[in-house]
Amino acid sequence: MTRTGGITAEIDEALGIQPVPPTACLRLGVLASGRGSNLQALLDSRAGGQFPAQVVAVASNRPNAPALERARRAGVPAEAFPQTRYASLADRDAAVQAFLEAHGVELVVLAGYDRVLAPGMLAAYRNRLINIHPSLLPAFAGTLQAQAAAFEHGVKVSGCTVHFVDEQLDGGPIILQRAVALDEADTAESFAARILAEEHQALPDAIRLIAEGRLRLVGRRCRILPPSRL
Ligand code: GRF
Repeated sequence: MTRTGGITAEIDEALGIQPVPPTACLRLGVLASGRGSNLQALLDSRAGGQFPAQVVAVASNRPNAPALERARRAGVPAEAFPQTRYASLADRDAAVQAFLEAHGVELVVLAGYDRVLAPGMLAAYRNRLINIHPSLLPAFAGTLQAQAAAFEHGVKVSGCTVHFVDEQLDGGPIILQRAVALDEADTAESFAARILAEEHQALPDAIRLIAEGRLRLVGRRCRILPPSRL
């Protein structure tokens, strides 16, 4: 029986992505609906060097999303796919998928994308599609204002989660979480801002794990293998 990093290989579900050789990089397609600060964190990670992934395409459902502008400023192809242009969600997502495929995207990153994906898109990118959510899932799943909801609920700790996307909204296997303790002086806004700062660490960290081939799915548990000693 072979073992990889202490995990029995036979029960690992292979992820769709192979480790990226040190000289190559994982091609990311980012879907974003708004401000795009998480997209910016990925662009900045790449610009800083030593990051084994690169944003090669950005798509939005909103033509005025600042995220599109951030992408264009960085020289990354960026396109809007407003729902009004398509007869159905499936048609829209088929167009998004064709755009991502044309740019050779290997991993799709939902970074503030405020629409659910069509079943065909979910199937096409199974285990190659991740999302960042501003709470410690499964708490405050399924809400676009999870930081405010956590604050209003009176939590003492919240944070962010990077997870694989499947048919269950905010319910796929968890890759990484970062916790943020509430400060007595926090307002809803300051709490959300500190959570966002953690998101900007968690998202590149999760992508690095995928690019380096360090994740294994065991049931719905996402195991993290130690770094390669090569
Ligand atoms: C983030 O809080 C993210 O967790 C959530 O939407 C927000 C997007 O922010 N899914 P930005 O557009 O990346 O600045």
